[in-house]
Amino acid sequence: PAAQPLLGKVVTITAGPTREALDPVRYISNHSSGKMGYGLAQAAQKMGATVNLISGPVKLNAPSNVQVSYVNSAIEMRDEAIRLAIESDIFIGCAAVADYRAADIAEQKIKKQGDEMTLTLVKNPDIIAEVAALTKDRPYTVGFAAETQDVEQYARGKLKNKKLDMICANDVSQAGLGFNSDNNALTLFWQDDQVSLPTSNKNELALTVVKAIASKLD
Ligand code: C5P
Repeated sequence: PAAQPLLGKVVTITAGPTREALDPVRYISNHSSGKMGYGLAQAAQKMGATVNLISGPVKLNAPSNVQVSYVNSAIEMRDEAIRLAIESDIFIGCAAVADYRAADIAEQKIKKQGDEMTLTLVKNPDIIAEVAALTKDRPYTVGFAAETQDVEQYARGKLKNKKLDMICANDVSQAGLGFNSDNNALTLFWQDDQVSLPTSNKNELALTVVKAIASKLD
């Protein structure tokens, strides 16, 4: 049987895209597949953890023995994340959260307009930063950073600014890696350490990431 370094631990993971409604039939979203987050959920479960997966809309089957909460918008994801984070030992933010949402969601389908139209967007909450800012019941908080350039500099910036304990960075400019791919290559950063993991299947990578998290917990 697999080693169970997370026995007795509660892990909450966000995965997939968010979907920000514009009107009853339209939305803003992105191409996140959810594969990395679902892989992490499965890996943490295999390592003995009780796992909550907060999932945006994806085309994946729920991992076995994982409690899944399905959400659409960033606001819904945030509310569920805070509710579960305060009961968790580890929080992993793997979701590709839309940075902005419509200032107003139209109640009726928006009518075709002239040659140009303007949408007003407002900033979404930074979910993982809110989790990391919890003063009571704060879990060990792990983020992801998808970068197309200066991976280390941007990842370390996010580690610091969002007050994370660890960040997993990948270079999404490399063909066949990251967004919507089965493979990924990650570098894990802590304030005083880092380790590069070679290109691998997201499920294998997930096991390595969860092991790395377990080894850094007290
Ligand atoms: O700032 P950026 O979106 O690159 O940061 C990525 C990390 O922050 C990921 O862990 C992602 O899940 C998280 N995030 C979040 N809420 C947002 C934006 C990003 O939790 N609104």
